[in-house]
Amino acid sequence: MKAIAVNRFGDSPQVLDLPDPEPGPGEVLVGMRFASINPVDWVGADGGLTEFTPNRFPLILGFDGVGRIEALGAGVLRFAVGDLVHGQFWGDVLEFGTYAERLTIVERPAFGALQMVPDSVDPRLAAALPTAGMTADGALERVGCQAGQTLLILGATGGVGVLATQLAAQAGLTVIATARDDARAQVRRLGAAETIDYGTQSVDDALAASCPGGVHGVLDLVGDPDGLAVAVRHLRDGGRAVSIAYGVTDKLAAQERITAANYLLDDKPARLRRVSEWLASGRLEIPIDREVDLRQAPEAVAAARRGGARGKTLIRI
Ligand SMILES: NC(=O)c1ccc[n+]([C@@H]2O[C@H](COP(=O)([O-])OP(=O)(O)OC[C@H]3O[C@@H](n4cnc5c(N)ncnc54)[C@H](OP(=O)(O)O)[C@@H]3O)[C@@H](O)[C@H]2O)c1
Repeated sequence: MKAIAVNRFGDSPQVLDLPDPEPGPGEVLVGMRFASINPVDWVGADGGLTEFTPNRFPLILGFDGVGRIEALGAGVLRFAVGDLVHGQFWGDVLEFGTYAERLTIVERPAFGALQMVPDSVDPRLAAALPTAGMTADGALERVGCQAGQTLLILGATGGVGVLATQLAAQAGLTVIATARDDARAQVRRLGAAETIDYGTQSVDDALAASCPGGVHGVLDLVGDPDGLAVAVRHLRDGGRAVSIAYGVTDKLAAQERITAANYLLDDKPARLRRVSEWLASGRLEIPIDREVDLRQAPEAVAAARRGGARGKTLIRI
């Protein structure tokens, strides 16, 4: 089978011809149809996930995707051959990722989440949703803002940002979002009441002008501690800042005027069920920034690493 993999941490991903995997006990074999790109894909390929999960080389990239079950290992109970499944295919050992024609994974992964695609969901969107959707849901829950309050989202234009913006606006929050000029119209259409072009405007000045009483929450999707420290100055007393990108330093977390914490995605199966139901009901839109073939995936990953995401990039398998 064709797959996009690295033979060593830090190598550039390349197209390889590898043997088809075979499902062991408790595993399913999935014929992949679409994968989607997330920053965690290159974190894993660079060796940044070894504290969570052991790995084997060649290491095939990709966590999110959708595919059809082609075979079952002994003892599989949750799925049948022919089922269309999606999720975050985070195996108990990192080896078989979603940028491949086939993968095997345990039916109930310890670190990921796998489920049937709801009937009315477009498989492309089922591949685009998992990590970004679950993270948007979990991070907003952690920020804990209530309807009528104001939430500042730093970095609203990428995979997590486009979904967090919609969910926050639908929950009755007033969303102020940082976004480069080319993405402002999209972020506003998805629900932001106001945007700040962090490329040309001072976020500090813009917040002082538009929100003199301060914001109730800050959701950081960027991970720049200096930028987050500026934003937190505009948090009201008792407000909460949450970073999904490790922007909260020990110094910031120690502040007592506000609460600040980094957030690592948790409770994945329940979150995947929830966000996929919202997708099925039409509540969520997933802007697809780019769609490429499997052979173009190495170039698409390199482009995604340079920044500028405007929603999700899909890989057709
Ligand atoms: N903790 C967790 O469990 C968890 C889960 C999922 C993701 N993450 C992390 O969360 C981050 C976001 O994930 P993602 O999937 O949304 O990434 P993504 O799709 O690559 O989007 C990142 C977005 O941030 C924008 N951006 C970059 N620098 C910015 C700045 N200084 N101010 C405002 N916007 C900026 C980029 O656009 P421009 O470059 O054009 O500005 C891009 O639209 C990544 O670091 C990822 O690793 C963590």
